[in-house]
Amino acid sequence: MTIDLAALPHDFLWGTATSAYQIEGAVAEDGRSPSIWDTFSHTPGKIDNNDHGDVACDHYHRWPEDIDLMRRLGTNAYRLSVAWPRVRPGGDGPVNDKGLDFYDRLIDGLLEAGITPSVTLYHWDLPQALQDRGGWPERETAEHFAAYASAVAARLGDRVGHWATLNEPLCSAWIGHLDGVMAPGWTDLTAAVRASYHLLLGHGLAMAAIKAEAPGAQVGIVNNLSTIHPATDRDEDRAAARRMDGHTNRWWLDPVHGRGFPADMREVYGVELPEKPGDMDLIGTPLDWLGLNYYFPQTVADDPAGPAPHVRTVRRVGVPRTGMDWEIDAGGLEALLIRLAEEYGARNLYVTENGSSFPDETGPDGAVEDPRRAEYLVSHLAACASAARKGVPLKGYFAWSLLDNFEWAYGYDKRFGLVHVDYATQARTVKASGRRYAEIIREARRARPEAA
Ligand code: FCB
Repeated sequence: MTIDLAALPHDFLWGTATSAYQIEGAVAEDGRSPSIWDTFSHTPGKIDNNDHGDVACDHYHRWPEDIDLMRRLGTNAYRLSVAWPRVRPGGDGPVNDKGLDFYDRLIDGLLEAGITPSVTLYHWDLPQALQDRGGWPERETAEHFAAYASAVAARLGDRVGHWATLNEPLCSAWIGHLDGVMAPGWTDLTAAVRASYHLLLGHGLAMAAIKAEAPGAQVGIVNNLSTIHPATDRDEDRAAARRMDGHTNRWWLDPVHGRGFPADMREVYGVELPEKPGDMDLIGTPLDWLGLNYYFPQTVADDPAGPAPHVRTVRRVGVPRTGMDWEIDAGGLEALLIRLAEEYGARNLYVTENGSSFPDETGPDGAVEDPRRAEYLVSHLAACASAARKGVPLKGYFAWSLLDNFEWAYGYDKRFGLVHVDYATQARTVKASGRRYAEIIREARRARPEAA
């Protein structure tokens, strides 16, 4: 498969992505307080093998080596997240300078290596202290989020130009408060809808807070979206697909584009939104950029007896899948990019995450040959280039992930890295997929030499 590299802009960001809790470790160092993920992962039975992020990839200490890896891959961008419990251990209250010092050093290291940082402020690690006061279902959490965002922007805003408020609020709200599979592990529709509202309110408040500290900042939000297909042509299944599209895509896209929360889904949930005058304007503040995390398409059927949104996921047979059992469909990535440009008028789009987990095998020489991950990477980059060729304003791609890491409820068994991590020794080894990514980046520079 070839990638139409000439279709991508010459200043395209070729990146990798990680998040704080998944790689940093050092959970009790320099004043960091516990987050909801520390609590959740230390609750027996919540995580495969009862894994947790106490040490993870020890990135807190090994970040210089990790920047070297990025250099070796030839990437010119890196998406990281800042841990709120390092910066404001109480959730609100005093700022912990030592926590900010870590990110300060990291940002300087990246810039010295010629790597543009893209900083996400919330990748799911809410300070436990705020959870104890009710968490995202409460309005004050959104306000404290903005205050924390302001502290980070005040410290890093002179060097960081590219900011995301939230990563995948769908996971925080729906998976964390409705399915109960992620922290805080609730199964309560009212709490989930209230959480979704306050997450997006927090996004709007944080946009303003960041810009007040760093006026030139480019601020966006990162959503995980899916293409949704009805299991059959029956009207009921088509309606189910429409609801699932609302639940997965429109609930998160419409409000931040100034369109309010979708009326059909408000009816499906039947939960009153905790709305106050002015909120929708804040939530709908025009975005500087929009991030898409894409992994898989979904096929659904009507399930009237099931919980909102009353759909059942149908497992299609005979289609390729990753080690997560996620269906592989690069066409879905192209379709979503086109939709974001056409339906939502997105002007600056980034694929902020995309990647695959497979059970890697390390050869006797220590090498990791991972042809399926490389193939996934190539096919999805080809989809990006094809969208760009059709006029989609795609500005960058961040491969998930730089490193194998703590894959939430799946623990360490699921490996997404372009770089293998041996958790016993913390040795890093670039996989064949990482070498392939490096080659593609070199080819892209040849195809658009202005970038050199
Ligand atoms: C996304 C998360 C990211 C990672 C990938 C596989 O939903 O944002 O942290 O776990 O999935």
